[in-house]
Amino acid sequence: MNMKLTSQKSTLKQIKSDAVVFFVSEETKSIAKQLEIFPKQLKNLAEKISLLENFKGKNDEICKVYANNAITSPFLLLVGVGKKEKFLLEMLRRASATALNKAKHLKAKKVAFDFSSSAKLFSQNSSEEITQAIVEGAMLSQYKFDKYFSEKKDKEKISEVILFDVSDETVKKIKSGISIAKIICVGTILARDLQNAPSNEIYPETLAAAAQSSAKEFGFECEVWEKSKIEEEKFGGLLAVSSGSVKEPRFIILKYNGTQNTETQPFVFVGKGVTFDSGGISIKPAANMAEMKMDMSGAAAVIGAVQTIARLKLLVNVVGLIPATENMPSGTAVKPGDVVTHRGGKTSEVDNTDAEGRLILADALAFAETLKPQFVIDLATLTGACVVALGHFATGMMGNDDELMNKLKVAGEKTYERVWQLPLFDEYEKLIKSDIADVKNVGGRWGGAITAGWFLKKFIGDYKWVHLDIAGPAILEDNQSYAPKGGSGVGVRLLVELVKSWK
Ligand code: BES
Ligand code: ZN
Ligand code: ZN
Repeated sequence: MNMKLTSQKSTLKQIKSDAVVFFVSEETKSIAKQLEIFPKQLKNLAEKISLLENFKGKNDEICKVYANNAITSPFLLLVGVGKKEKFLLEMLRRASATALNKAKHLKAKKVAFDFSSSAKLFSQNSSEEITQAIVEGAMLSQYKFDKYFSEKKDKEKISEVILFDVSDETVKKIKSGISIAKIICVGTILARDLQNAPSNEIYPETLAAAAQSSAKEFGFECEVWEKSKIEEEKFGGLLAVSSGSVKEPRFIILKYNGTQNTETQPFVFVGKGVTFDSGGISIKPAANMAEMKMDMSGAAAVIGAVQTIARLKLLVNVVGLIPATENMPSGTAVKPGDVVTHRGGKTSEVDNTDAEGRLILADALAFAETLKPQFVIDLATLTGACVVALGHFATGMMGNDDELMNKLKVAGEKTYERVWQLPLFDEYEKLIKSDIADVKNVGGRWGGAITAGWFLKKFIGDYKWVHLDIAGPAILEDNQSYAPKGGSGVGVRLLVELVKSWK
């Protein structure tokens, strides 16, 4: 993405751009008041047009006003952020996305945001937070996975976004907000790119190479285990799932020591890295199978988050663990009825080879104990059942520590990567009882997201743990305001916010 983001000291009248964006709230009576800062000629015009278009300032509403030489830029886009009592930073992200989409439609290249119009409305948020929301809406909405088109449409893209304000002090804050927000968006976009890449491009070896190249560029460590080492370490679940594929598995370990003290207990993130999930011998139906190239969304989120945390130089130690494999049917594939011995010695009966995510995560969760973690959070596109339960607007959350889950809830509301807790009641445990092994990898028709969570719980060590089933929000079937159809990069902003706001 080569959209330039800049801050500038300027007035609305003087700013030079193809379109100026001005945020307006949904208080009909006060729209006129909000427009009072405009030159009289523009104010009258804006009022007239907003009346004509029946513009109410609702979130996502937009109204174009010709400048008639009252300002330097050719026109103004009034964009709604909704009702004041319902203000969340999310409204700004969406308004920013709406404004840029409209500007792009109008063939604008250089778009300027009147920062003060947002700061006035969102007075309870800091300038940095407001900047971050505007930048996220801008950068993430203009994302497009167009790598595989032989003809690029770069000419249609927005090339520069300017945030301007009249005060030097505010411009300074905008500048630092932009640099942080850019790092976070680049991390999210990395995750999206990895998700959207087809499985003939991203498979275990190349996923590991992507992690290594990020580590090298941004100064953290990345260790990659090949098959022989995975065998030595007795990761039976990962080996079983990969046994049907000609592509060898990898186990990826990302390490960032921000405290400079290797003794400080790390935050551990585990990401499901199934680079293609055909279902294996329990093969999936053909419809929508292509989306299963994104069954490594958890891994993508972990790589994006660790990269971002490292680039922001946050004062924590973080370890990312990624079991990476394909799940394919073949003569060598794991079969229904097989018994697998996982890292740590526990066994599982594979009743359905399509419930492969939990098999590889079990090894990683058991291994995580050796890192003496402060906590472990796993992210996985684990179950279709979770998508049935929550749709695409929330991540399913289960775990053994209320405090950590609460922190995730708060981070989820702030970033709008919202999480929703599901219960791990004891009764569900019986559903995954096996007649011949310690546990069975499926639990029958009901409560599928929860029985998957319970399976993982059987393999955790003595640590605080949260499981995030991102199957819904990671893989979008329709465009959302600032996330196009496809991989959303969900999890990156959530984890970064969690770490950023830690204690
Ligand atoms: N990767 C899928 C889950 C999934 C489905 C993610 C749809 C995103 C969208 C997972 O490996 C799987 O196939 N789970 C099975 C479990 C079942 C066999 C118990 C499922 O959800 O159907
Ligand atoms: Zn599966
Ligand atoms: Zn899967």
